[in-house]
Amino acid sequence: MSPSAPLAGRRIRAAVIGTGAIARGSHLPALAQLAAEGETEVVAAVDIDAAAVEAFCTEGGIPHAYTDLERMLAEQRPDLVTICTPPTLHRAQSVAALRAGAWVWCEKPPVPTLADYDAVAAEEGTKGGPYASIVFQHRFGSGSRHVRRLLAEQALGRPLVAHCQTTWYRDAAYYAVPWRGRWHTEGGGPAMGHGIHQMDLLLDLLGPWSEVRAMAGRLVHDVETEDVSTALVRFENGAMATIVNSVLSPDEVSRIRIDCELATVELTHLYGHSNADWRVTPARDVPGDRAAAWQDFGADVPSSHLAQLRELVASMRAGERPRSSGADGRTSLELISALYKAAFTDVTVKRGEIGPGDPFYTALHGGAPGWAPAAAPAAAEEVSA
Ligand SMILES: NC(=O)c1ccc[n+]([C@@H]2O[C@H](COP(=O)([O-])OP(=O)(O)OC[C@H]3O[C@@H](n4cnc5c(N)ncnc54)[C@H](O)[C@@H]3O)[C@@H](O)[C@H]2O)c1
Repeated sequence: MSPSAPLAGRRIRAAVIGTGAIARGSHLPALAQLAAEGETEVVAAVDIDAAAVEAFCTEGGIPHAYTDLERMLAEQRPDLVTICTPPTLHRAQSVAALRAGAWVWCEKPPVPTLADYDAVAAEEGTKGGPYASIVFQHRFGSGSRHVRRLLAEQALGRPLVAHCQTTWYRDAAYYAVPWRGRWHTEGGGPAMGHGIHQMDLLLDLLGPWSEVRAMAGRLVHDVETEDVSTALVRFENGAMATIVNSVLSPDEVSRIRIDCELATVELTHLYGHSNADWRVTPARDVPGDRAAAWQDFGADVPSSHLAQLRELVASMRAGERPRSSGADGRTSLELISALYKAAFTDVTVKRGEIGPGDPFYTALHGGAPGWAPAAAPAAAEEVSA
């Protein structure tokens, strides 16, 4: 671990790892916007697919294309590495970047397990970075900022009841791609791969949870993981929430609703939100002038990779731990690990209980019968021999 070079008076030198859909669709445009503002420059990109990375660099005006991450880190010494590869690669690539002194902005899901997350966090710098943060773009933008402030200041009274819904639809063709639906390659089912954004936002708004009970099912698809899960969550502040994560829902929606003593807050969208997607409904007896202030979300800043990257760049320049890193970046992965443990073992799981020695610390399926992948044939033969 070495602290990143001082950034005062110069652009942040960024490198993109993995040049697929999310790199093209979200990382490069966000980096390009900040480049136009004089904040960043993309000095390199890396992909195991040489043709893909060459095309990415040509289209993005990026000077150096690599197929080897370590070589890129050694030759370019970037300040920031954005990781856009499949989740099973996130741990090793994050560690490599941190060891080279680069800050990390890694796509969700962060890593396959809490053990992986803690291994990455152990490589962060202690003072001033480098730090590893996770892409949770739904936390950012004017809507979530306004509601987070209202809740933190208890302007709406105590939060009491919440709903968190990721009800999406994925067909058989989606799951025909071999790496999907498998613990080892996809990391988890809709709780991990799809619902993580809404659960992460719920936690960001409501604060720490304390216990979870859950159910998971494989109702439609021929997958190792679940294709639907439901959970009941109690928060430290006393609020109680229901969570649904589904890929079986023809009428697709992402939704959060929080009933507080003085108002209900609702967010209804699909893959990203702006001010118009939020609604604050006051209780009947709240005076009109007080309720009117709650409707002022300020200038519309949609949730986006750009909104989060802008804050990350500011944190880098200040040498401060960015949001969505360390303990703050771990919360939704811990809730998901607990959701699976609760569902697969039929117990109530408390926050903080999944640590070293717990099978759900090192595998989201926890080795649970009926959920863990079948042993590889060779291993099975050894056991029976
Ligand atoms: N934040 C969001 O809303 C959002 C949306 C979609 C995807 N994602 C996440 O982004 C990540 C990537 O998803 P995607 O849809 O872009 O996938 P993708 O398959 O389109 O792209 C992945 C790229 O990684 C490359 N790659 C594979 N192994 C590599 C290696 N060892 N070194 C360098 N490159 C390697 C592949 O060649 C490919 O170009 C996933 O974690 C996914 O969950 C996030």
